[in-house]
Amino acid sequence: GAPVEADISGLAEGQMMTVEWRGKPVWIVRRTKAELEDLPKHDAELADPQSDRPGFTPEWAKNEYRSRKPEYFVCIGICTHLGCSPTAHFQTGAQPGLPNDWPGGWLCPCHGSTFDLAGRVFANKPAPDNLEIPPYVFSADGTRITIG
Ligand code: FES
Repeated sequence: GAPVEADISGLAEGQMMTVEWRGKPVWIVRRTKAELEDLPKHDAELADPQSDRPGFTPEWAKNEYRSRKPEYFVCIGICTHLGCSPTAHFQTGAQPGLPNDWPGGWLCPCHGSTFDLAGRVFANKPAPDNLEIPPYVFSADGTRITIG
């Protein structure tokens, strides 16, 4: 399939946009400073905090943020369990249907897998792997992302 370009110039902090690439949803999230600072705090609760498992995280995304630029997170919005599309819950803390210490991220409605704001799956959930990071690059001026 052809690469897809996303204009991120209007994406505010804390917002997410979705583009379609090869028939799959690709999420682009502009994470806040607080969200970025919170990411390392949950490593002990995750199944694969360093994204060591093969196939889901390109070498260049094997960092604390699973991204090229910390602020922007890009991933394929398909659960690594049986392929449902998880829903975004970016508000942190206790909310109906979410763990009391919810760090912000995604919840898969099918079997309850939860993912943090780097798409890392929490341990002891049906999904075995972190959400997949697609190939992408930023334009020179940083206002667009090309996926694929
Ligand atoms: Fe997401 Fe099963 S498909 S938890």
